[in-house]
Amino acid sequence: MRARVRPTGKTPALNQKNVMPKLIKVAETKNLPAGQGAAFEVEGNRIAVFNCGGAYFAIDDTCPHAGGPLSEGSVEGCKVTCPWHGADFDLKTGAVLGPPAFEGVRAYKVVVEGNDLRVEV
Ligand code: FES
Repeated sequence: MRARVRPTGKTPALNQKNVMPKLIKVAETKNLPAGQGAAFEVEGNRIAVFNCGGAYFAIDDTCPHAGGPLSEGSVEGCKVTCPWHGADFDLKTGAVLGPPAFEGVRAYKVVVEGNDLRVEV
């Protein structure tokens, strides 16, 4: 039996190793105070960027537990707590630090150029 393929209208995702990374400006440093996060749509990804004591980190905004917006979570040190059910994530790596989530999220490189915050995708 042959599998049926339905057109989705979407271009298949390219292997990251075959794509030159892009640095996309998402905000200016003055718009993201220490201890705060904000979400941005970057090349089709919803990415949460955080100011962790003057260092900037970016992770996927969507909590893998049930889809909570991590950018709206509380930041303590370099950890964010999901606003919906309290899972903790490491802002530097995206690793899950506490339940109820069981998996981490993708982390992105953040580059500060002058006043600009750029995320590598
Ligand atoms: S949606 Fe994040 S912990 Fe449940």
